[in-house]
Amino acid sequence: MKSAARLLLTLLAIALIAFFGALGFALLPTHTRSIAAHASAAGESSIEHGRYLAVAADCIACHTAPGGRPFAGGLAIDSPVGAIYSTNITPDRASGIGQFTLDDFDRAVRHGIDDEGVTLYPAMPYPSYARMSDEDIAALYDYFMHGVAPVARRAHTGGIPWPLSIRWPVAIWRKLFAPSPNAPPFNASRYADPEVARGAYLVQGPGHCGSCHTPRTLALREKALDDSSNAYLAGGQKIGGWIAVNLRGNAADGLGSWSKDDIVETLRTARNSGQAVIGAPMNDVIVHSTQYLNDTDLRAIAAYLKTLTPAPGDRARFAANPATAAALAAGHEADRGAELYVDNCAACHRTDGQGSPKAFPKMAGNSSVLAEDPGSLISLVLAGSSLPGTQDAPSALGMPGFGWRLSNDEVAQLLTFIRTGWGNQAASVSAAEVARIRASLDARAAGKLSSND
Ligand code: HEC
Ligand code: HEC
Ligand code: HEC
Repeated sequence: MKSAARLLLTLLAIALIAFFGALGFALLPTHTRSIAAHASAAGESSIEHGRYLAVAADCIACHTAPGGRPFAGGLAIDSPVGAIYSTNITPDRASGIGQFTLDDFDRAVRHGIDDEGVTLYPAMPYPSYARMSDEDIAALYDYFMHGVAPVARRAHTGGIPWPLSIRWPVAIWRKLFAPSPNAPPFNASRYADPEVARGAYLVQGPGHCGSCHTPRTLALREKALDDSSNAYLAGGQKIGGWIAVNLRGNAADGLGSWSKDDIVETLRTARNSGQAVIGAPMNDVIVHSTQYLNDTDLRAIAAYLKTLTPAPGDRARFAANPATAAALAAGHEADRGAELYVDNCAACHRTDGQGSPKAFPKMAGNSSVLAEDPGSLISLVLAGSSLPGTQDAPSALGMPGFGWRLSNDEVAQLLTFIRTGWGNQAASVSAAEVARIRASLDARAAGKLSSND
């Protein structure tokens, strides 16, 4: 027994040495080109431009703890290995980034390497920010150095237990999967229309929309960082029970049936005249970021999203079928799901599933109802929701949660009904899926922001 254990240890040691050797290249410091030439005199206009970019990039969402000072860090972001704490990015010299040069700042924001050469966890979306232009990074730097108040607050560490806290595997991940520091930032010439090019830049770069809306591989890499693949923005990532839905052109579960105005209105007010309502993680994006973008930029984002072709695969379909609604209105006793709908939902969403514009979303042909993964739908019915107040639409109409009165089985039957009623053709929902989401909502309610199920 003893010698077998020793043999195993020896083999393990050899394997480790070979592994370190082979991947040693990954530990070499990464050379990034200097953008110091773009340093500006930090004039008012550069600082203002940087402020706008910080909003478009939603830096505040991750770098501010609940109730904490803006940009002072300390938010716990759940990851498969433990909590990752965001850092203080105010210009405080001792605990923030006050001592960062423009090149240090660039290396951290676009390439995921901090001022001491340590690789950052990709919870910081540098694979997306890598597309930002040199000029924009310089403006962002001016803003953080001169437009943000310094806050003395040490970063919280230790959310990830040793040995998972060792950083070199993260450096290997970065070398393998993040864009190379020498790659050109963003190629606008791929887009014939300048408006679409501007939208592509905002979505792929500062907006980092793909960090939630693009599916990831097992190695947690986004399947695509731009529209060169139709996996880009095809949906599927889970954020605490919500699914970041498909934003491509699929008619049923994507944005195919959305107008540009629907998209603009959603990004500005978190609602639109008849399409979807927006779950919690996207509400945060709208509240901190997209509601403040100017009209030209919101229209550019919409124009770009509307160029994305449908994602492939066996997806949901919708063929309007008013007969189903009539049958439902006449009473559908045999179908427990229909009965539950009439008892619990029809008062607001109506028996014909048409809802009422700007107040109660329709169920027929609704992309959230038809989403490939019913996770968000289940979360909504269990926990309810309330529309956030935004500057253009301050009042908040909510939907009550039904988790307290409907069993997992009943929620499954009800959702299977709405996913197959009125011409909707999406997969049925099982009680086991409902049970899983109920557990993850309970965990979220218990405290942490969860970036992954
Ligand atoms: C989705 C969450 C998220 C967003 C959005 C985000 N960050 Fe980060 N950022 C993090 C996390 C988490 C870390 C710490 C990573 C680590 O410890 O490896 C970090 C680290 C950093 C660092 C390194 C700081 C240091 O002291 O080493 C800088 C600089 C930074 N972020 C700047 C920004 C800027 C500027 C923006 C907006 C353009 C931004 N971040 C947006 C999550 C985010
Ligand atoms: C008191 C009125 C009311 C009742 C009852 C109600 N809802 Fe809602 N529902 C709403 C409102 C309001 C919204 C929009 C909420 C928001 O945006 O936060 C909504 C949103 C939804 C959505 C999201 C649609 C989208 O586009 O994202 C679905 C799905 C939904 N409800 C299903 C149901 C189901 C199933 C029931 C019954 C179990 C139900 N609702 C009961 C008012 C109601
Ligand atoms: C933190 C993760 C996250 C980021 C970043 C994010 N989204 Fe979302 N988004 C979501 C989730 C989750 C939903 C689904 C909400 C729901 O089902 O109600 C969503 C929904 C949407 C919807 C509504 C689609 C529908 O069919 O209901 C649009 C449009 C959208 N996002 C656009 C964007 C754009 C544009 C960006 C980048 C500027 C972006 N999102 C960035 C998480 C995110």
